[in-house]
Amino acid sequence: MTIDVGRVRADTPGCEHVVHLNNAGSSLPPRQVTEAVVDHLRLEERVGGYEAAAAALDRSERTYDAVAELVGADRDEIALVENATRAWDMAFYSLPWKPGDRILTSRAEYASNAIAFLQIARRHDVRVEVVPDDETGALSVEALRDMIDERVKLIAVTHVPTQGGLVNPAAEIGAVAREAGVTFLLDACQSVGQLRVDVREIGCDLLSATGRKFLRGPRGTGFLYCSRRILDRLEPPFLDLHAATWTSADSYEVRGDARRFENWEGYVAGKIGLGVAADYALSLGLDAIEERVTGLAETLRGRLAALPGVTVHDQGARRCGIVTFTVDGHDSRDVAARLSASKVNVSVSAASSARWDFEARALPSLVRASVHYYNTEEDLDRLCEALPSR
Ligand SMILES: Cc1ncc(COP(=O)(O)O)c(C=O)c1O
Repeated sequence: MTIDVGRVRADTPGCEHVVHLNNAGSSLPPRQVTEAVVDHLRLEERVGGYEAAAAALDRSERTYDAVAELVGADRDEIALVENATRAWDMAFYSLPWKPGDRILTSRAEYASNAIAFLQIARRHDVRVEVVPDDETGALSVEALRDMIDERVKLIAVTHVPTQGGLVNPAAEIGAVAREAGVTFLLDACQSVGQLRVDVREIGCDLLSATGRKFLRGPRGTGFLYCSRRILDRLEPPFLDLHAATWTSADSYEVRGDARRFENWEGYVAGKIGLGVAADYALSLGLDAIEERVTGLAETLRGRLAALPGVTVHDQGARRCGIVTFTVDGHDSRDVAARLSASKVNVSVSAASSARWDFEARALPSLVRASVHYYNTEEDLDRLCEALPSR
């Protein structure tokens, strides 16, 4: 199966207005997603929010099936939440931390994850340890294996970092975690929707992702996968009457499925739109998506590297749709502003979003161009042509 680029562009009204290379920020949604969201909002307008939710129950329930299919899980292992951070936090803060526990993580980790590690480290006297990289810049699986002992409570790794094209070896990390019996939490926020991500192949216990990035869903949506293997051992940091049942005056019972990580009130239109986005990705085929996205990104890296004064900074033997670069003599924010004036959307990655990595590599802020399957080689030309002179 290959992507019919004409068709997916016809499904994407935004393609007529901009060259959108900010899919790692928030993608252009296909019209099917926008229509599903707007249709539900219109229904709420006509009949009332609760009544609309009841009438659309099949559609919102379909989202659990679509998301489960997308990542190779079962529907009762999926919680739908507001974003990837909330999904990740609900998993992370559910673990029963005690002094001396160790967390093994990667250098490329996202800021919000690192901040949460540091908070738990302070609160419970837990140790946070960054696993060294291999020679390609990915987490070294060998080093990880050497660091395992009985005090390791969690392996928490970002699959694709916010600041570059690297793909960490999730399945190899999963194999180490399984062998050692250590819980493995994968931040797949930037990988779901652009790569094939299968929780059983990877062997993770927990996986967090967002709707609006490569999955092309609505903003304000995300999900958590929690394996049935460990669900019963995790009591969420917050409970409400959806996550648990108040069974007697002084008792409650936590839900038996992953919805224990949700709360009652939610963005129903967004939830429906997320399911439509997952179904859209499934209809194109995850392998076909990955092939096109990684191919376009490699083409862009090649074109940028050939330009004098432009440096590409992506690491890893396996790389994805995120391309980061700098232009000699120009601050990356100015480069992004200039591209924006030419209707080319990119973003800027700065140390504040991944400090361990930026400091270790002594990186300045980076221009981040993130491609999707609906982008074309002409889009890449437009980017290269709009760069400032060096
Ligand atoms: C690697 C990574 N993890 C987590 C997040 C947070 O996602 P969200 O904004 O949906 O909470 C991001 C956002 O950029 C990210 O790049």
